[in-house]
Amino acid sequence: MFPSAIEDFLLKTYGYWTKVEELNGVNEGKGTSCFRLFFGEKSFIVKKAKEKREYDVYNAISPFFKNKKVSIPLVYYTYRDETDHWFVIEDIPHLFPKDRWKGDTEQLKVLFNLHFNTWNKTLSIDKPFDFRWSKGLTKRALSLFPSTLEVAIEQLRLKSEAIFLPFCYISGDPNPTNWGIRNNGELVLFDWERIGYATPAIDLAITIPSLGTLDKSLEFNIASTYISFWKGVSIEFPYSIQELTEQIVIAKMWSALDFLVNNADTLEEDLLKLHITRLNEKFKVEYPGII
Ligand SMILES: Nc1ncnc2c1ncn2[C@@H]1O[C@H](COP(=O)(O)OP(=O)(O)O)[C@@H](O)[C@H]1O
Ligand SMILES: [Mg+2]
Repeated sequence: MFPSAIEDFLLKTYGYWTKVEELNGVNEGKGTSCFRLFFGEKSFIVKKAKEKREYDVYNAISPFFKNKKVSIPLVYYTYRDETDHWFVIEDIPHLFPKDRWKGDTEQLKVLFNLHFNTWNKTLSIDKPFDFRWSKGLTKRALSLFPSTLEVAIEQLRLKSEAIFLPFCYISGDPNPTNWGIRNNGELVLFDWERIGYATPAIDLAITIPSLGTLDKSLEFNIASTYISFWKGVSIEFPYSIQELTEQIVIAKMWSALDFLVNNADTLEEDLLKLHITRLNEKFKVEYPGII
């Protein structure tokens, strides 16, 4: 199941494991690559990543992150061969509770720590995730949505250019299921498969469950809490609360559209339909004049 280097490490360090749980992310269709291994009372996470970038985070960047209070799981072992990248990391015991899925201050602070400390900097990450309006997105979106959305989708594409500017590193996927809580209450972000350069709006949008709020109140609260962290630091944040709020809305719509287009084949049909209906409604609210 694991490469022998990983097995050897586990056996030598913790002994034999007594139980294995397979952990699935959002898209079960894509297969399992994350495991929780139990050794008596203790447990550890073993994950295999296709891309090198998450391995780079755990292998090379974790001391920098720790230093800058970007809290990620502790790293016990990393290994790679020609095709795969493996790491053994801390099992974060508690889920991020649902009542905190709405602009949590500690969560936004972790993201601020990441953005501020990598602003205009490069880290040694092999192939950062490429945030963009991908080639073919418009065409594939139009095969899922009614043609009445054509102009609105093009407007969203134009507006989205601003959120892809390479200002800093972003997690790329700080959705609520990618956070856990330690026994001492600390909030920790895992799943670094999409780390790359872009603007904070993308991370902020992805912390919001589903499509956000129609009156943008949650987006506004997140923008204002987040911007408050930039007061009194050495770098000036380039956008107002209002501008960031709008960017969060744009980023949310882009990421929802991108997700649907990329997962249309594997999502359950009723669920796909529901997502399409909801996003269609969101477009109608955001682009009332042209739909
Ligand atoms: N370090 C960890 N501590 C606790 N749970 C974890 C940890 N890493 C992953 N998980 C669990 O496994 C699931 C899938 O892992 P994740 O790294 O998010 O991969 P995926 O790319 O499949 O989303 C997570 O949603 C979470 O429930
Ligand atoms: Mg995940």
